[in-house]
Amino acid sequence: MRVLSGIQPTGNLHLGNYLGAIRNWVRMQDEMDSESQCFFFLADMHSITVHEGREQRIRNVRDMAAALVAAGIDPDRSVLFNQARVPAHAELCWLLNGTARIGWLNRMTQFKDKVGKDREGASIGLFVYPVLQAADILIYNATHVPVGEDQKQHLELARDIATKFNTDFGVDLFTMPAPIIPKESARIMSLRDGTAKMSKSDPSDMSRINLTDDDDAIMTKVKKAKTDPEPLPETAEGLAGRPEANNLVGIYATLSGTTPDAVCAEFAGKGFGAFKPALGEVLVETLRPIRERFMELRTDDAALDAILDKGAARAAAAAEPTLRAAYDAMGLMR
Ligand code: ADP
Ligand code: TRP
Repeated sequence: MRVLSGIQPTGNLHLGNYLGAIRNWVRMQDEMDSESQCFFFLADMHSITVHEGREQRIRNVRDMAAALVAAGIDPDRSVLFNQARVPAHAELCWLLNGTARIGWLNRMTQFKDKVGKDREGASIGLFVYPVLQAADILIYNATHVPVGEDQKQHLELARDIATKFNTDFGVDLFTMPAPIIPKESARIMSLRDGTAKMSKSDPSDMSRINLTDDDDAIMTKVKKAKTDPEPLPETAEGLAGRPEANNLVGIYATLSGTTPDAVCAEFAGKGFGAFKPALGEVLVETLRPIRERFMELRTDDAALDAILDKGAARAAAAAEPTLRAAYDAMGLMR
């Protein structure tokens, strides 16, 4: 098993990132046997599709590294690095640009969502983004890629690119990667609107729980979270058409390792006045140790840089044979 995943170091991590992505990485890392390996990276080369000042970009990479370590990624067991330090990603992306088709990229819903009506004004980088992502995955011959539901299409594209490259050049170079999408916690919704996903780009800070929020802030946000006046139903079926209630029950179930049905059974007939403090409590207990480690780690840039140095060296060594084989398959002298 070769596990690989990436996350953009865009700052302001929230509960959605933790439950939707990072926690699954930690689980996979912790379940690894000695034959398997995990690669986790900060997709800073992807993040250039969003304009950011130099200093902030540097800060974001270190912060995300600190957050991952705080959440349980062990840089001795997993290869933790930032993409910009391993040029093989960008090199393979260029080679794969010969294989990927414009028609394939035109179908990418994330690109369409992000550009909205201004397609002409979007950067080429944003359009080609999924090819770089395919390179990220294929360069390590990753077999398992833990991602959120929204990345499924990018994984399919990576498989299409891998298949076409292998066929076009008559090689058996790239391994087919499989997305690993957790069923529960796949989508954490905004605390202000149960139909919008929790996101760092939501203008209202009350809509999300940040990894940097202290205990009081978490409690306040949960207590002010939008709900409906109905009590909790007896089974999860009764949450249909109640997006806010459904979200809060889902978060509680995920954090306490049970199912929405079990949570409903526990709180059936009670109102949110009773449920919210319980939810706040679980959230506070889960996030406090992570926040405390995060705050401590982010004060030591030298230690974070050392972690990323070591990770980049290990990643570059792992990427090199695949990159060399790709150049060779194409008849490019290198
Ligand atoms: P944001 O929406 O805040 O900009 P990103 O798009 O940078 O977050 O996502 C980073 C990672 O976190 C991705 O793997 C994504 O699937 C996951 N993620 C982001 N928001 C959520 C959410 N609300 N619920 C579950 N997972 C999420
Ligand atoms: N596009 C992914 C996201 O927005 C991040 C990412 C970049 C990624 N390269 C990757 C995820 C490779 C998995 C594998 O969440």
